[in-house]
Amino acid sequence: MPAKASAKRPDPFVDEKAYPFLMSFENELLHWYDQYRRHMPWREDPTPYHVYLSEIMLQQTQVDTVRSYYLRFLKRFPTLKDLAESDEEEVLKLWEGLGYYSRGRNLHKAAIAIEKDFHGEVPMAKSDLLSLPGIGEYTSKAIRSIAFHQKEIAVDGNLIRVFSRLDERKEENLEKMKGFCEGYFLDKLQQGDPSHFNQALMDLGEMVCLPKGLPLCEECPLKGFCQAAKDGTMLDYPPAKKAKEKRQESWTVLVLFYGDEVAIEKRKDEGLLASLYQFPLLEGKKMEAEVLAALKEKNALVDSLEFLGETEHVFSHLIWDLQGYRISLKEKPTQPNLLWVKVKELKKTYAIPSAFAFYRKKIL
Ligand code: ADE
Ligand code: SF4
Repeated sequence: MPAKASAKRPDPFVDEKAYPFLMSFENELLHWYDQYRRHMPWREDPTPYHVYLSEIMLQQTQVDTVRSYYLRFLKRFPTLKDLAESDEEEVLKLWEGLGYYSRGRNLHKAAIAIEKDFHGEVPMAKSDLLSLPGIGEYTSKAIRSIAFHQKEIAVDGNLIRVFSRLDERKEENLEKMKGFCEGYFLDKLQQGDPSHFNQALMDLGEMVCLPKGLPLCEECPLKGFCQAAKDGTMLDYPPAKKAKEKRQESWTVLVLFYGDEVAIEKRKDEGLLASLYQFPLLEGKKMEAEVLAALKEKNALVDSLEFLGETEHVFSHLIWDLQGYRISLKEKPTQPNLLWVKVKELKKTYAIPSAFAFYRKKIL
């Protein structure tokens, strides 16, 4: 069937002859990129060195910050050879303010290795790229696709989010998810330029398919291919990360009284609640008989014992499951770690962490 000529758009990226009727996923994406892509200096003249430098700078830094550093860097080191012949000190000075200085150090080392082992040209082979310091899986694929137009997908968090919505895919294992994402986009990349295809996905993730509740589906060139947009489930993807499971510890809090004095002890000078004061603790949740036995072992003569109740204290990474007893002693024990203080003083002078507030309140 002959193709009906539709209104012809000027388009340097898309081979319309291949898709005369329907716009394919990749054509929609590449059209959009042609019209809306962000302007970045490394996109104007994407030589392997320029792409490499920009990818290293973009690893942990936002595009807007990178621009001026990138231009300044290239002004001083217009070629990889200039970089290889420089001092590390000077490279780091130009890196000042970008952070993650190992990136600058590795870049300098890699430039020297490229001069020595690859005739001064950024290599194209994956194994060669991976042999250079500072280049990992993501960066090697970004360089191969953007600079060398090789069919690769550089999967980062943005791409995973876009993919998760397009395919309504949830998978907790990040490595598996990366694999699914890569497979999905590789399948969509048919005849387009991998360089534009990858950068279009990057831009889409940063400009349209935004995180949290903010995907701008009405403006999205992939709306017609997006399962989440069809089902109205965009906000369910990607699934919120499960809060990391917190470790649980159980303690029995002993509020020991002798007359109007109460016993506290100082915690270790490092770790959780370092150097703060606490009521003495027994590990685990102890029954009354167990508490009495433990005290007997320390030669403490118990006059009376009262259960104070249970509570929980949640730290950022840990949960304390507490239960406590108020215990009156007949004699003041001589354990050197215990500090006996008047109840009034306890309130004024000692820092007792809020993990113990439940028990502190019971006696004040
Ligand atoms: N992030 C990493 N590389 C990028 C690129 N070439 N364009 C946009 N964002 C990026
Ligand atoms: Fe993301 Fe919406 Fe586009 Fe789907 S249609 S890819 S959810 S912006």
